[in-house]
Amino acid sequence: MAERIEVLLSEEEVDRRIQEIGDQISRDYAGKQVHLVCVLKGGSFFMCELAKRITVPVSLDFMSVSSYGGDTKSSGVVKIVKDLDESLLDKHVLVVEDIVDSGRTLSYLLEMLKDRGPADVKLCTLLDKPDRRVVEVQVDYTGFEIPDEFVVGYGLDYDQKYRNLPYIGVVKFD
Ligand code: IMP
Ligand code: MG
Repeated sequence: MAERIEVLLSEEEVDRRIQEIGDQISRDYAGKQVHLVCVLKGGSFFMCELAKRITVPVSLDFMSVSSYGGDTKSSGVVKIVKDLDESLLDKHVLVVEDIVDSGRTLSYLLEMLKDRGPADVKLCTLLDKPDRRVVEVQVDYTGFEIPDEFVVGYGLDYDQKYRNLPYIGVVKFD
């Protein structure tokens, strides 16, 4: 069955919002260096665009996680597939994610990162589906709150496709 993508947030809307968040982060971290931690693969497009708009010193690192037994939904326990290259000790860590859905992945990940001795850990997500939340997660920076629909683009995939779309779209099957 072929799917169709309907635009939810245009490229211009997303770009404008990323600029606003970048400005906010630059103000909030004035006088500090922010260490961006990208959760692969979904967070990568957002992180690059965001990093370009932050005016305080930025360092970057990447990690990749997957769920034990292939089902994040049931366990919420995540396995580190690729760990960070650098220590988080005394750093101002900002985790950059594509989307917070149930919140299970992020709540687990944030606790794990907090155990590594950072100065502080905050969370920035491009998208948030608050209706889907099962586990409470404190989100410090949100691009857009969206309804409970399956979205793609800007790093988000459906069956590994559509990550490269420069906008956010809803997948429709009809
Ligand atoms: P959570 O642990 O339920 O919050 O799951 C978050 C992860 O599920 C995200 O990082 C995405 O990889 C994936 N995900 C959740 N909703 C969507 C969606 O609408 N489109 C694509 N991926 C999604
Ligand atoms: Mg993700």
